[in-house]
Amino acid sequence: MSEVTVIGLGPMGAVIAGILLEKGFAVTVWNRTAAKAEPLVQRGAVLAASAADAVKASPVVIVCVADYDSSYRILGEPESVSALNGRVFVQLSTGSPGQARDNAAWAQAHGADYLDGAIAATPPQMGRADTTIFTSGSETAYRRSEPMLKALAGHVPYLGENVSHASSTDLAFLSYLFGSMIGFFHAARILESDGLRVDQFGAMIAGISPAIGEMVRHEGEVIQSSTYDQPQSTLNTCLSTARLFMKQAQEAGINAEFPSFALGLFQKGADAGYGDEELAALVKVLR
Ligand SMILES: NC(=O)c1ccc[n+]([C@@H]2O[C@H](COP(=O)([O-])OP(=O)(O)OC[C@H]3O[C@@H](n4cnc5c(N)ncnc54)[C@H](OP(=O)(O)O)[C@@H]3O)[C@@H](O)[C@H]2O)c1
Repeated sequence: MSEVTVIGLGPMGAVIAGILLEKGFAVTVWNRTAAKAEPLVQRGAVLAASAADAVKASPVVIVCVADYDSSYRILGEPESVSALNGRVFVQLSTGSPGQARDNAAWAQAHGADYLDGAIAATPPQMGRADTTIFTSGSETAYRRSEPMLKALAGHVPYLGENVSHASSTDLAFLSYLFGSMIGFFHAARILESDGLRVDQFGAMIAGISPAIGEMVRHEGEVIQSSTYDQPQSTLNTCLSTARLFMKQAQEAGINAEFPSFALGLFQKGADAGYGDEELAALVKVLR
């Protein structure tokens, strides 16, 4: 038996499993594409033979996959569903407030103690004192998963029993972030049109506003060196988030002009074939 299971080993899930190993937790992992587990197995993780075995392996199960539909696909198999009974299920995939409520009801119906978490950081920012994961849902699930969550982020606010509050707070943060990022990609065009370096401007912003600036500095370096193919945050991941802005606007009946603008722009990037590249590939659409 291990202490924690991590399901999903994309750029974020792999970093989560790696940090938990580094901080001394006994970790079981599972991913649809099993090959991605190999570097973690070399570092001491146990690769479960199936998603159901992964759930059975630990009292705390962290899921970090592309979206909630993928999570249902993985955990919805009869053997996985019954294994959830009595376990703490921490959902770290990004979703809408309504999806968090539905997921909590589904998990509770299957006997799981459910916590919804939302990561407000990129993979390289994980494990640090200034990293934030918003959480809401069952308080006992929070207490039982707190040691793992605090290993992943120094700042893990518990926003209460209302399970949608982590997602709403996260989407509010991301809306603010995406507004800045889209503005930054236009800034890249302004700089390029006058022969200025995008990476130097990114570094300047990092000096002014450290947490957001760190992401901007990275995107600036990617644009300057044209290295879009080693993504920390893919355009597709951001496109899914922009869809969540639309979904949340529909759920809450609020104005959707900003989400609609962001979605249209990200969709153009995906349509142009840049979906699996770093978000900064959006500048190629603007060019
Ligand atoms: N990267 C970031 O900067 C960042 C920041 C904050 C939050 N997040 C959130 O973290 C979550 C994971 O993101 P990520 O960056 O690791 O990459 P991602 O591309 O959003 O997710 C990749 C993971 O999802 C799995 N997956 C996708 N479709 C699936 C399906 N139909 N069935 C089963 N598994 C499926 C992948 O499995 P395979 O390996 O088999 O394809 C992989 O484990 C997302 O919800 C994202 O919004 C990411």
